[in-house]
Amino acid sequence: MAQEWSPRSWQGHEALQQPDYADTAALAAAEAELASYPALTSLNEAQALTGRIAEAQAGRAFLLQGGDCAESFAEFSPANIDASFRLIMSMARSLAGASGLPIIKSARMAGQFAKPRSVDRETKAERTLPAYRGDIVNGIGFDEDERAPDPDRMFRAYAQAYATLSRLRSLAAAEAEQLYTCHEALLLPYEQALVRQEGSVSWGSSAHFLWIGDRTRFPGSAHVEFARGLANPLGIKCGPSLQPDMLLALLDTVNPKREAGRITLISRMGANNVEAALPPLLRAVKEAGHPVLWSCDPMHGNTVKAANGYKTRPFERILNEAHAFFAVTRAEGAIPGGIHIEMTGQDVTECTGGTVDVTEQNLGDRYHTHCDPRLNPAQAMELAELVAEMLRP
Ligand code: PEP
Ligand code: CO
Repeated sequence: MAQEWSPRSWQGHEALQQPDYADTAALAAAEAELASYPALTSLNEAQALTGRIAEAQAGRAFLLQGGDCAESFAEFSPANIDASFRLIMSMARSLAGASGLPIIKSARMAGQFAKPRSVDRETKAERTLPAYRGDIVNGIGFDEDERAPDPDRMFRAYAQAYATLSRLRSLAAAEAEQLYTCHEALLLPYEQALVRQEGSVSWGSSAHFLWIGDRTRFPGSAHVEFARGLANPLGIKCGPSLQPDMLLALLDTVNPKREAGRITLISRMGANNVEAALPPLLRAVKEAGHPVLWSCDPMHGNTVKAANGYKTRPFERILNEAHAFFAVTRAEGAIPGGIHIEMTGQDVTECTGGTVDVTEQNLGDRYHTHCDPRLNPAQAMELAELVAEMLRP
């Protein structure tokens, strides 16, 4: 990358998964106003997290990332924040107890609003409207007004993120814990507006840890260009289509100085693909000598459609992917260093199975997600306890 980076240099690259804002003047005004707002996170905190991820790379810590697939304006309440916080802490205690390792806790909260979609437009009853891209972009209701991308939604998302972070900080402080935030840096106008500088160092102040999704991690992508200039620790989702040479090119772009703790590779292959797709990546990264943390997202490769139409994820498959990830990383001489989960502190019925045995017939009871199915607290704790066994020395 010979070109110079700036918070807006991504604009010269291919930006997928962005809304088509009709009112570009309103977008520019929203960006300018957001750029004048306070940072949500500090550079110090982001750098401290990089240091802790470097510890995990060395096998001396373990990274737990968890929370909603999509935060929503409707589900914003102190009770929901508190419940998800308590769930993250309980999972961390279980993982720490079995492994003896410090657990780095990171919430997919306080900014996880924007969603990549498989189609740009959605058709229902012979009407075609823009796809829902998360509450930061448009509304989930299927009508013209709701689905029109509105740049002013970024203000509400920012305010909710700020309030959520404030509550998480006080909950964590009360337990003398450190909790970090993370989300997919998908909506580039928003992320760009929240870039802040200290001296010559830039960081994305919308969260501590930002990741690039599986659909936007291709070479030449605007999202890769944006992320490479940030001092934050970064994640890259690794799905089954990612080839080793492409991954190495990405690593050279986002981490040319090979800094420890900077990059977390989040494998999300699907339970049946791990054994074929992950070893070539593990070998290529090892051979190239790139320092990375290997983490497992056992959710996104295991989404299926139930007979009654609900998008769900069978607990068994989620667990199988985690098992396969631990086995394959260890067999290749790498360290399984983290887990990335979609879950909520609310007692939802979105994923099937687990000891609580949510069935396909039950899915409609409390199916509240705005995007992908999440583990409920019982399922998330069960998974944490099973992963904890995999971490037992
Ligand atoms: C997500 O984490 O919500 C997501 C969309 O993941 P992926 O990019 O791995 O599909
Ligand atoms: Co998701």
